[in-house]
Amino acid sequence: MELIVARNREDLVKARRGGDVALVPTMGALHEGHRSLIRQARVRADQVVVSVFVNPLQFSPNEDFSRYPRTFDADLDACRAEGVDVVFNPAVEDMYPPGRQVSVSAGEMGTIVEGAFRPGHFDGVLTVVLKLFNLVRPDLAVFGQKDAQQLALIRRMVADLDLPIEILGGPTVREPDGLALSSRNRYLSESDRRVALTLSRALRAGAAQFDPSQIRATAQDVLDAAGPELDLDYLALVDPATFREVGESHEGTAVLAVAARVGDTRLIDNVTLTLN
Ligand code: PAJ
Repeated sequence: MELIVARNREDLVKARRGGDVALVPTMGALHEGHRSLIRQARVRADQVVVSVFVNPLQFSPNEDFSRYPRTFDADLDACRAEGVDVVFNPAVEDMYPPGRQVSVSAGEMGTIVEGAFRPGHFDGVLTVVLKLFNLVRPDLAVFGQKDAQQLALIRRMVADLDLPIEILGGPTVREPDGLALSSRNRYLSESDRRVALTLSRALRAGAAQFDPSQIRATAQDVLDAAGPELDLDYLALVDPATFREVGESHEGTAVLAVAARVGDTRLIDNVTLTLN
């Protein structure tokens, strides 16, 4: 089957065939992490749509919207190789025509942890994801655990707004040394990359502990040992559904999440662990 590139709603309607449709939303610069989500979609659906759209709404003015990597031709090759049916690549002006007013609020959950450092970010994410859902009309959609708070908020939006879409989460794909794959890793120098490895090392060290205070302290020690090249935004041990900090008596799963700047690049990572 020839890969179809759709630019707007009409193109999407024309490309539509029968059966279940899965959507994998991305901002392009596709790597093995994205591709693992596409493969998950492929086994579950008759038609796989990958959206490639760098969403200005989720970047604040001081963030990297203009320098975000754009590799559309390579993205099309990756989608072809994974048997994707449709790549949806709308123009910014079509997604956000002048006069736009209404958007999605991520609520309080959008203002904590990652949201505390990126005001408005999750409102922008949920707004574009709801628009993509309404344009593509998928039966299911796949998101990475790499962006755990994003995934939790999308589940929240689907529940709170009664969206008839099944949400699947995919595990974080890592380099052999543990670094989580990210479109932004290409900006890391060799020495930045060594410092960046501290994130996944801290998470692994924390996850080997047994209670919240030890988990936090052990991960924090590893981060502190990295020195001033690692500029930590947060280390948080939170409930996977609400992203509130868990207490000492928490039982069940928890997410240990970290965000830091290395050079000019901001990186996030997390692991899920079980407390009992
Ligand atoms: P983007 O950063 O391109 O990520 C697209 C999807 O790939 C997200 O669901 C993300 O969690 C997942 N992903 C990224 N790195 C991964 C890795 N190493 N392993 C597994 N999955 C990974 O997230 C966004 O785009 C945007 O916010 C979007 C949802 C498209 C809305 O604009």
